[in-house]
Amino acid sequence: MNFKLTEAQKSIKDTVRKFAETKIEPISFQLDEKSIFPEDIVKEMTQMSIMGLPYPAEYGGAGKDVLSYIIAVEELSRIDAGVGVILSAHVSLGSWPIMEFGTEEQKRKYLVPLASGKKIGAFGLTEANAGSDAGETETTAVLEGAHYILNGSKVFITNADYADTYVIFAVTTPGIGTKGISAFIVEKGWEGFTFGTHYNKMGIRSSATAELLFNNVKVPKENLLGKEGQGFKIAMKTLEGGRIGIASQALGIAQGAYEKALKYSKERIQFGKPISRQQDIAFKLAEMATKIRAARFMVYSAAQMKEEHESYGKESAMAKLYASDICLEVVNDAVQIFGGSGYIKGFPVERMYRDAKICTIYEGTNEIQKLVISNAIIGRPKKTPSTAPSKPESHKLASASITGNRKKIIIKEGSPEERVAAFLKYLESENIEVKTGFNEEVYGSIGEADRVCSIGRGLKSKDDLPIIVDLTKNIGAQLGCSRPVAEEKNWLPLDRFVGVSGRKFKGAFYLAIGISGQVQHLGGIKNAKIIAAINIDEKAPIFAQADYGIVGDLYEIVPILTKALKK
Ligand code: CAA
Repeated sequence: MNFKLTEAQKSIKDTVRKFAETKIEPISFQLDEKSIFPEDIVKEMTQMSIMGLPYPAEYGGAGKDVLSYIIAVEELSRIDAGVGVILSAHVSLGSWPIMEFGTEEQKRKYLVPLASGKKIGAFGLTEANAGSDAGETETTAVLEGAHYILNGSKVFITNADYADTYVIFAVTTPGIGTKGISAFIVEKGWEGFTFGTHYNKMGIRSSATAELLFNNVKVPKENLLGKEGQGFKIAMKTLEGGRIGIASQALGIAQGAYEKALKYSKERIQFGKPISRQQDIAFKLAEMATKIRAARFMVYSAAQMKEEHESYGKESAMAKLYASDICLEVVNDAVQIFGGSGYIKGFPVERMYRDAKICTIYEGTNEIQKLVISNAIIGRPKKTPSTAPSKPESHKLASASITGNRKKIIIKEGSPEERVAAFLKYLESENIEVKTGFNEEVYGSIGEADRVCSIGRGLKSKDDLPIIVDLTKNIGAQLGCSRPVAEEKNWLPLDRFVGVSGRKFKGAFYLAIGISGQVQHLGGIKNAKIIAAINIDEKAPIFAQADYGIVGDLYEIVPILTKALKK
């Protein structure tokens, strides 16, 4: 086996390398520092026909082989791994399932714009309760006439709201496990399809990652990808290919870090000679180069197997496992060679060190890769019935809301005073006696509170907090907030934020003010008896997770509500 690149492959490698070095490298620091999705770079990649490298020209692609595409991901990642994964998620995850399982109509309508780069693709499998255990998908798609009604949410989705076309997995037949999952092509802009705010990630910060939220999204029947119940297999097959992309991303990061370290080691003089001449550093370089070479063989060989339509699931898992593991070792050594400088922002190895980690996590953790490999070697184990407590039937049907089945009564008509009056009536009907409650102290325990008012990023300034405190007192509640208000803005103490990683609320009444409704936040309030929300954006995901809501500007609604309750 000797992976001598063909002239065509060499030409793609050189072109992408030059593009990455001249166009991406000069801005990589800024992209990382400010977490910017490089739209102009992606446009240029479109002009260079990179976005559909392995797809036939008749479907808008460049008609090249899998290895050419894998080399493109490697070369982009050698400079900026965030850009590498934009391409990998678009080609391997967002486009491939349509190429492989789509009807001719679906390919014409969706693959052509994806492969030509006019549109960006994404893949929505992962959920809050379905990460490694992808079969635990809770998003539902219920057939009603000519449409499937999609409800639920997806987390950690690469390309986020920069994508246009999404392959989404949802349960069409509850209660039968992976065979009840189906795949759908979903378009951005459809009513009820919204996004959470972008995650503030450790690395690959030039790529965008966010939650996808589906609230009664009408998906035309003809957008079912494959047959009903085939979704899980489509997801698994797609990931087999995607993992080669992540393996090449890891390979590219390792190659980039190694080259930087090698160059630096030749220039850096200590003890009277370049550190590359110190045996410990020279041996490190030797090990780094050896690991990278071994990884490259594995990655290219998996790509070649895919190209030749051999079975490649085991080999792609091996390539991802090995390449991402050695990538972590190589970037660690690279930072070590740079010494103190490698720990400082602005030295690319510092960024590469952070970028590398995700490769052992996404598209299946490396633990899952070992499961895939060992299953391929010794066979899948016989399934024993799950010991996890069975979910209530309501959880499996209709709406896969994170906060359970909520009333979703959202008041958007009438003057602000009328909306507040209607809201209070509803609370009375629930026996939430906000009118009689009063608290002077609002910094008590959230976990033990009966009522909590929480503020999110809808509040424009810390100076405006008193209007929220005033309302909180008059509701007889404790004061809470979303994670960014405490951790990023430092407007409230850390013990105030509610969410999966913060405080959990399980009392009678939770009022979310100016909070969009990210999964992380919702996880902290799912046991609240009544959830209410005030938000200016009628499409804010929080409304789909609440019992009652007022659509309106908090700066208008909160004072009116406070006045109505003033003791
Ligand atoms: N190809 C085809 N079918 C497959 C398959 C494959 N590779 N792997 C499994 N299946 C089939 C099985 O044959 C089985 O079908 P039958 O019942 O008809 O035999 C069915 O799927 C269920 O298989 P398992 O019982 O083995 O499934 P499981 O529930 O035990 O899960 C798993 C298997 C490998 C752990 C799987 O859940 C998995 O891959 N988990 C990781 C998920 C993952 O990689 N997520 C990444 C999200 S995307 C992402 O990260 C993108 C990004 O950000 C860039």
